[in-house]
Amino acid sequence: MIDEQLIREMIKDIQDPELKKSLLELGMIRAISVAGDKVKLTLALTTSKCPKKEAMVAEIRRVLEKLPGISRVDVKLTILNQEELRQLFPKHPLVGVEKVRHVLAVASGKGGVGKTTIAVNVALALAKKGNRVGLLDADVYGPSLPVMLGLNEPPEWENQMMIPAEKFGIKVMSLGMLTEKNQSIIWRGPLVSKAISQLLGQVLWGDLDFLVVDLPPGTGDPSITIAKSIPNATVLMVTTPQEVALADVRRAIDLFKKFDMRIVGMVENMSYFLCGHTDKPIEIFGRGGGKKLSEEYGLSLLAKIPIDLKLGQGGDSGRPLMVSAANSETGRIFQSIAEEVAKDSESL
Ligand SMILES: Nc1ncnc2c1ncn2[C@@H]1O[C@H](COP(=O)(O)OP(=O)(O)O)[C@@H](O)[C@H]1O
Ligand SMILES: [Mg+2]
Repeated sequence: MIDEQLIREMIKDIQDPELKKSLLELGMIRAISVAGDKVKLTLALTTSKCPKKEAMVAEIRRVLEKLPGISRVDVKLTILNQEELRQLFPKHPLVGVEKVRHVLAVASGKGGVGKTTIAVNVALALAKKGNRVGLLDADVYGPSLPVMLGLNEPPEWENQMMIPAEKFGIKVMSLGMLTEKNQSIIWRGPLVSKAISQLLGQVLWGDLDFLVVDLPPGTGDPSITIAKSIPNATVLMVTTPQEVALADVRRAIDLFKKFDMRIVGMVENMSYFLCGHTDKPIEIFGRGGGKKLSEEYGLSLLAKIPIDLKLGQGGDSGRPLMVSAANSETGRIFQSIAEEVAKDSESL
């Protein structure tokens, strides 16, 4: 007689092609019933968009239709519920960041807009207010923190955890500290995710009020990995005044929204230049980009940062502006951004 037991026996070796485990063992087969020449069962998928679903259904049919007397096999599709998914894919707690209270990811649509400069100086401004701060360079495509902060040594290890470097009162870690000098690595998708997870999970950040993360530009794997591994991270969006840059920023904002990451606000960099010959700010790169976007998305424009030669030099010399000239006009702007970020974090 053909019964549920026999059906289970017949399909027990059919695997999920991605998880490489038996569908039965994974709990993905349910509601098996046999009536006359007809078998019915339900296949619960990890996602409704599972690219292998047709193949799995075909395999179940092929196996069961071999049974004498069975002429119809109905496979109903459903998806696993949240709890079942959690059991299948237990989330490994990221021990490295478990004692970090707030994560602030500094992001931009494209490179060269001053994201790293802002991440560094906002981190230092937060530390100046008395916060314990870490700074993580997650820009896998162009790690520049080692140069900006004058860090050359590889990190030390302790119990399979990396100890971040300490510089100007903050803890710092960069992929650039893990690779040979001048050696460029071509990071591909899975490697990027792995490297970023490692920087979050395997660095002994310890007790921190803020971990500032310098994200790579754009909307690639690293941004998504961060969004997934630190669901409550907030974002500081950096833009420039030009209209041409806005499309990229929009794409980035849309991505963070999709992952429910809250955007603290926007900072417009290289907004104007004070040349010294006139009091009038010169708007070299046009105007209004930050304002336009902040209105479009209902985000606050936290600051406009001028083109300031000291800011650029600070980046090249290994002594950032918030170290060499914290109370200059531009330094005060960074302090006010830190103020807003801190205020925002308290409201959570
Ligand atoms: N407001 C500014 N005034 C002067 N130079 C700046 C300013 N912002 C950034 N820079 C310089 O522009 C270059 C690119 O900045 P960076 O922070 O590395 O950008 P990103 O991280 O977005 O690629 C660096 O040389 C930096 O020192
Ligand atoms: Mg950068």
